[in-house]
Amino acid sequence: MSWVRKTVASTIGAKFIVALTGIVLVGFVIGHMLGNLQIFLGQDALNNYAQMLHNTPALLWSARLVLILSFFAHIGFTIKLTRQNRLARPQTYAYQQSIQAPTSSRTMIFSGLLVLSFVIYHLLHFTLGVTHPEHKSLVDSMGRPDVYSMVVLGFQNIWVSLSYIVAIILLGLHLSHGVSSLWQTLGLNHVKYNTFIKASGPVLALTLVAGNLSMPVAVLLGFLSLPLGVV
Ligand code: HEM
Repeated sequence: MSWVRKTVASTIGAKFIVALTGIVLVGFVIGHMLGNLQIFLGQDALNNYAQMLHNTPALLWSARLVLILSFFAHIGFTIKLTRQNRLARPQTYAYQQSIQAPTSSRTMIFSGLLVLSFVIYHLLHFTLGVTHPEHKSLVDSMGRPDVYSMVVLGFQNIWVSLSYIVAIILLGLHLSHGVSSLWQTLGLNHVKYNTFIKASGPVLALTLVAGNLSMPVAVLLGFLSLPLGVV
C-alpha cells in the first residue's frame, strides 16, 4: 500500500483529500438542512424525521463515522498543507495585501476555525443537550423526543439565534470559496465551464445560508412557535 502512503504524503494527494472530504461535508450540510427544513411542516413532521433517524442506528452510526473521519481528515490535511506552504515560503511578502492566494487561504482557515467552534457548540446544544438539558429532555404527546420544541425554544433566545446567524454566514463564506476551488483541485476545470465553476460556490453557499437562516429568523419573527402545552 505504498502508493497510498505516497499519495497521502504528497501535496496534491493532501489537496485531493481536502477536496473529497469537503464534498462529503457539503453533502451532509445539504442533507441536514433539507431534513431540518421540515420544521416548517410542523412538530409532527420534524419529530417523526428525527425519530426515524434514531430508529436506524446502523445507518446513523455509519453516517456519523464517515462524517467524523471526513471532518478530522479535512482539518488535519488543511493544517498539513498550510505548514508545507509556510516552510516552502519562509519570508513573508513585502506587500501582503496585493497577493490574493495567501489572503484567501487565511480567510478559509479563519472561517473554517470559527465554523469548527460553532459545530462544537451546536453538538453541545442539540445533540448532547449540555447547554440546555431541559430542552433536550422534552417529549411530545406520542412519546418521541420533541426536537421541534427543542429547536424553537433554543432559537427564542436572541443570543443563541445570533450565534447561529453569524456561524451560518461564516459557513457560507467558507463554502463559497471552497466549492469553487474544489473543481480545480479535482482537475475538473475547463474554460468551457468557467462560468459554472465560478458561480457554483456562491450559488450553493447562498442557498445554504438562506435555508439555514430561515429557521432562527422564522422563530425570532414568531412564524414558528411552540405547540400548545410546551412552556
Ligand atoms: C438552523 C440551522 C440548524 C438547525 C435547526 C440544526 C438542528 C440540528 C438538530 C436538531 C440536531 C440534533 C439531531 C438529533 O439528535 O435528533 C443537529 C445535529 C447536528 N448538526 Fe445541526 N442544525 C443546523 C445547522 C447545522 C450546520 C450549519 C451544521 C454544520 C456546519 C450542523 C451540523 C450538525 C451536526 C454535525 C450534528 C450531529 C449529527 C448527529 O447527531 O449525527 N448543523 N442539528
